[in-house]
Amino acid sequence: MGSKIHQSTHKLAIAVVNDASIDCPKNEDKTPATIANSRPGITDVVKFNQCKLGIAYYLPFFVTLPTMKYQPPSLVDTFDRRIRYLRMSVTDRCDFRCQYCMTEEMRFLPRKSVLSAAEIVRLATLFVELGVEKIRLTGGEPLVRPDIVSIARDLSAIDGLNELVMTTNGSQLSTLAKPLVDAGVSRVNVSLDTLCSDQFSELSRTGNLTTVLAGIDAAIAAGFKRIRLNTVLLSGQNEAQIEPLINFALDRGIDIAFIEEMPMGHITQTDRELSLVPSSQVLDIVKSRFTLTPVAGSPNDGPARRYAVEGTGTELGVISPITHNFCDSCNRLRITPDGRLVLCLGHENSLDLRQMLRSDMDATSLKRAIVAALAYKPERHVFDQPDEPQVVRLMNVTGG
Ligand code: GTP
Ligand code: 5AD
Ligand code: SF4
Repeated sequence: MGSKIHQSTHKLAIAVVNDASIDCPKNEDKTPATIANSRPGITDVVKFNQCKLGIAYYLPFFVTLPTMKYQPPSLVDTFDRRIRYLRMSVTDRCDFRCQYCMTEEMRFLPRKSVLSAAEIVRLATLFVELGVEKIRLTGGEPLVRPDIVSIARDLSAIDGLNELVMTTNGSQLSTLAKPLVDAGVSRVNVSLDTLCSDQFSELSRTGNLTTVLAGIDAAIAAGFKRIRLNTVLLSGQNEAQIEPLINFALDRGIDIAFIEEMPMGHITQTDRELSLVPSSQVLDIVKSRFTLTPVAGSPNDGPARRYAVEGTGTELGVISPITHNFCDSCNRLRITPDGRLVLCLGHENSLDLRQMLRSDMDATSLKRAIVAALAYKPERHVFDQPDEPQVVRLMNVTGG
């Protein structure tokens, strides 16, 4: 059921109208208001389609920007949060079916709906010109895309991009770790929820622990600047793995982050309210064995609260979307595999950039549309408020 719902289109289409000559994307969807607003100046007509719990609400908004000479905009939202970090999900496909991420039976996007390598690079370049400094490639599983290494190479060559990083399930790192380092990927986060082989098979449904562990070793040998394990904790399932996983990270001199599960999409496998393992519990366990020193953050960081584990080179992080909201410092936007700009992981608002790319919109208009969409970036998610409408999108669409 989840997969059906998440395929419903969540669109926020922006038609840019300039000096009475209508220069809009090929959707010939000119509402009376669009035409009424076709006067000198810039008018962004924003059609905003929200889908909450499978019910589509269609809300038209009309935003008129003042008549002014075009200024290169920057990405600052209405809560004064500067966007520097773009998460690009390059495919919704994955070779695993992790219980907390997907349903057992998945329907994926048709290939022609997915952005081409050239489209990904073009979009990334626009975002970097708008001030993005860090790009994380995610999926699905980004390494199932056959052209992923050349995408990485092209992205890392973008002028102004400081950091190209990736989140992966690790299943293909044995062969791809070195090519990725050579292509300019500086860090990888590898999902690893357990070191117990049977449990790994159960949680990932189709994954194989041995392959992933070999992938992690290959990543270490390949010379990434940092490698982090990502562990989503599920109560009653893998909490007993907290210590073994920390030991595994310490032995290899790599980092680890423990993540509270987020309620993305309709997944019947886990009862999410019951499956929460609060980060405070993790920190209590760790602090009984190790001395932790908080690590100062930087403006491009993700949501982890990070600690140096004294006497080791390992950083331990906790990501606590449920018990410790971090939205006030949000610095990121997301692109889905089919080219939607998702403004917040916890909401359905999105802007269909693929349609604009494929209608030959020029770079200035595209950037203007992106900046206009930022007005709809919500203040925060409501994962911690179960009575509020939650997202129907499964995690594989946005890649976390
Ligand atoms: P670093 O760049 O190494 O800090 O990585 P990251 O934590 O930004 O990225 P990663 O892909 O490893 O994501 C780790 C976890 O953080 C996943 O569960 C993501 O879903 C979650 N996450 C990342 N960004 C956000 C966000 O903006 N909001 C929420 N709620 N969760 C996020
Ligand atoms: N809640 C929290 N984290 C999740 N991930 C996938 N689904 C969820 C979820 N429902 C994690 C993956 C991966 C990262 C991108 O997001 O384990 O490490
Ligand atoms: Fe930003 Fe939304 Fe994530 Fe909060 S949930 S940190 S607002 S993207």
